[in-house]
Amino acid sequence: MVSHRNVYLDYSATTPTDPRVLEKMLPYFTDEFGNTSSAHSYGRRAEDAIETARETIATLMNCRASEIIFTSGGSESDNLAIRGAAWSRLDVGNHLVTTPVEHSAVTRTVSQLVAFSDFDSAIVPVDKTASVDVEELLDNCNERTTLVSIIYANNEVGTTADMPRIAAQLRERGILFHTDAVQSAGQMTLDVQALGVDLLSISAHKFYGPKGVGALYCRDGINLAPSQTGGSHEAGRRAGTLNTPAIVGMAEALRLAYEERDERLAHYTRLRDMLKDGILEKVSDCQITGHPVHRLPSHISFVFEDVDSTRLLMHLDLMGISASGASACKTGNAEPSSVLLAMGYAPELAIGSLRLTVGQTTTEEDVAYAIEGIAAAVEKVRKLKRIVS
Ligand SMILES: Cc1ncc(COP(=O)(O)O)c(C=O)c1O
Repeated sequence: MVSHRNVYLDYSATTPTDPRVLEKMLPYFTDEFGNTSSAHSYGRRAEDAIETARETIATLMNCRASEIIFTSGGSESDNLAIRGAAWSRLDVGNHLVTTPVEHSAVTRTVSQLVAFSDFDSAIVPVDKTASVDVEELLDNCNERTTLVSIIYANNEVGTTADMPRIAAQLRERGILFHTDAVQSAGQMTLDVQALGVDLLSISAHKFYGPKGVGALYCRDGINLAPSQTGGSHEAGRRAGTLNTPAIVGMAEALRLAYEERDERLAHYTRLRDMLKDGILEKVSDCQITGHPVHRLPSHISFVFEDVDSTRLLMHLDLMGISASGASACKTGNAEPSSVLLAMGYAPELAIGSLRLTVGQTTTEEDVAYAIEGIAAAVEKVRKLKRIVS
């Protein structure tokens, strides 16, 4: 094996903050520290920065600035979209529809509404690629359905959904459509007119912006009951002093992602395909999870037979390779991912999952090292399993 190197292949978990983004943020920690709610010049300058950021993001999403609400990240955006729209539309109905492959910020918000208030929900099954059938989705809606939430690009298996097709059907029926676009931002279009969605969540740390900041697009005319109450920030929809440096950073990160989109996506796709081909060639008994074509350019995921992903990730970490499994790890034992189970994988196979996501600074040498490392680690884990059993 070639000499040890550190290879980060977990850009779906988080990305580093781009130094150009950080540079834009810095003055708002120090000299320009004003509170946007203050009437004096410090406050007005902070407000100007926030409104410029809002305009930038709105332009990139092809919507009005008034339709962008700043939040603390993807989880809060999902919570606000679902809880806020559901609560404010009780006169329309109390039925929510989602899928079993959503991020927990969506599934747990829906299940909390069902558990603690007068809502019920339908969970539309997905196929082996984690895609939803539109007819089946519509069959699960009824006259009380107020909101459907479907992930745009799946965080675990990378599958992307056909947003315009789903949106057109829901709009015809007067049902609000929310999408969690946290993994899509920076790679897929966020043009909300083209997508046809009513509510869309993003989070800056997934596209080379800072952590702890996100946004929710909320189409004008949709009332949102705030899920976080307090001051009347964000037109009464989200209380709390605005995080000026982070918001400025998020806008710059999204602007750069659009400006450099072609080069970034070509780079991701090339390295992702190298990884995919290398692993399929060097590792026996493995399958790609998620859609073979309709998937994020940066993302490839697998299941390996006779492998426990917790052990695999440990071996990879020792080699300097940082990756993740599509599973919740509890005290060293991998639990099969509910997403993979919903896609029809047997628990014994689902437990052997691996997610690899490339980024801007990933190199061919990194990928070559990772392929060798993964092949060796899978072999080691399988050998140890045979010895123990
Ligand atoms: C699809 C998806 N939604 C929501 C989130 C939560 O975002 P945040 O970490 O900004 O709360 C994540 C983070 O991993 C995600 O991948």
